[in-house]
Amino acid sequence: IPVDTFDLVIFGGTGDLARRKILPGLFRRFCAGQIPSDARIIGAARGEMDNDAYREIVAEAVREFSGSHHCEDGTLEGFLEKLSYAHVDARGEDGWETLKQLMSRDGRIEAFYFSVAPGLFGDIAKRLHAHGMVSPTCRVVVEKPFGRDLQSARELNQTLAQHFDESQIYRIDHYLGKETVQNLMAVRFGNVLFEPLWNSQYIDHIQITVAETVGVGGRGEYYDRSGAMRDMVQNHLMQLLCLIAMEPPAKFDPDAVRDEKLKVIRALEPVMPHHVVRGQYMAGEDEDAHPDYRTAVGDPRSKTESFIAMKVNLANWRWAGTPFYLRTGKRMSARSSEIAVVFKPLPHTIFEDVEHGTNRNVLAIQLQPNEGITMDVTIKEPGPGGMRLIDVPLDMTFAEALGPEVEDPPDAYERLIMDVIRGNQTLFMRGDEVEAAWAWTDPIIAGWEARGDVPKPYESGGSGPVEADQLMARDGLIWREITQKRRRM
Ligand code: BG6
Repeated sequence: IPVDTFDLVIFGGTGDLARRKILPGLFRRFCAGQIPSDARIIGAARGEMDNDAYREIVAEAVREFSGSHHCEDGTLEGFLEKLSYAHVDARGEDGWETLKQLMSRDGRIEAFYFSVAPGLFGDIAKRLHAHGMVSPTCRVVVEKPFGRDLQSARELNQTLAQHFDESQIYRIDHYLGKETVQNLMAVRFGNVLFEPLWNSQYIDHIQITVAETVGVGGRGEYYDRSGAMRDMVQNHLMQLLCLIAMEPPAKFDPDAVRDEKLKVIRALEPVMPHHVVRGQYMAGEDEDAHPDYRTAVGDPRSKTESFIAMKVNLANWRWAGTPFYLRTGKRMSARSSEIAVVFKPLPHTIFEDVEHGTNRNVLAIQLQPNEGITMDVTIKEPGPGGMRLIDVPLDMTFAEALGPEVEDPPDAYERLIMDVIRGNQTLFMRGDEVEAAWAWTDPIIAGWEARGDVPKPYESGGSGPVEADQLMARDGLIWREITQKRRRM
């Protein structure tokens, strides 16, 4: 079903994010028939070029990044017809009136995507305002990094608030657009089975892992100023933690959900220094192709972490006594994101002299790749050999359970952009949420800086520094294995 018609202006329309994610995402929605025939997409950037040149750039990006098998021949042309280009100077007056002329201004939905450095948000917002392009119903979409600490996030929020109401601001955390991330809510709040057990009485601990095989690549300059804490934990892992830990919202409505997430962030306890392990990857076997972190970012003394593992506690009634272990890193053994809910051991086993596995129920939610859910349960080993217990996964890989159409779920950006057009903020971060997340993150980072903390080296293609294993071992636990392919029976 098509959404209501719209004009979407992408500032930074020739940039990396626009080419990799936003435009290919829009294209795929176009192929799915969701983009109305009179909708318009306007790329805006500093360079001078005409519509044809811009369409050429977009065509190339779409071919490279959209997995175009979804589309029949000729569709690309149809999509390109919706595009135009405006040369605008974010810091000057050039181009704004032309941009205004390009917009339909017939009462349709208007969305401005700020796919630019946060330093330009204020300039762009001010000029949109000055040129009369800010209507009460228009929307702005902003990308991470949303600040680098509480202070800068507050300033960004204040800047945006001068021109837009909170209900018009869509702060993207693309993890919230991932299929299985939303499934977390469906599983928790769509089944009677889990919620009664969803607390510290039954859950021993929770592990959240987001492992990547890539290194910092060409983003060294940005990354070295951020590190895994700012790049991944403050936003993506925090959002996952919120969805796992939050109280059931009264309804699936943007503020009801975001109020509950905010309470989780506010309940986070300060993190003890010895509950954090930071790492930096070493060179891979082929040093030229995979240099070590410091070489990759061009600073032989860099103290920025490309890996972090931490034990986090929530001070509230539901979770007191159930630690959350978070871990994320680059250049790990596999690309794999998983949330594992590890239940407590049995209070008593009646199978005293019986060989058995761990007797631990584990609900594992695989976020990517191979989205799916497994539940480890203990059963009797089939066969005549008497009572022997084994752990087996009840396994549901979505692609297998639901058929081929889910094999390629919509990309996070696709879904989120359509939510902007629909005016649904549920999967976007509210300003107070982002600030609360920084308020928790800041002292942790300040502590490292004060102590001159140096990350521990770890092997490329491994599972992080040994100290991360020791963090778990001290609590009598082990990390789940990082594997890309889930077990198949
Ligand atoms: C981005 C980070 O927000 O998320 C990157 O800046 C990271 O460093 C990426 O690689 C991971 O996203 P995904 O969707 O590939 O898990």
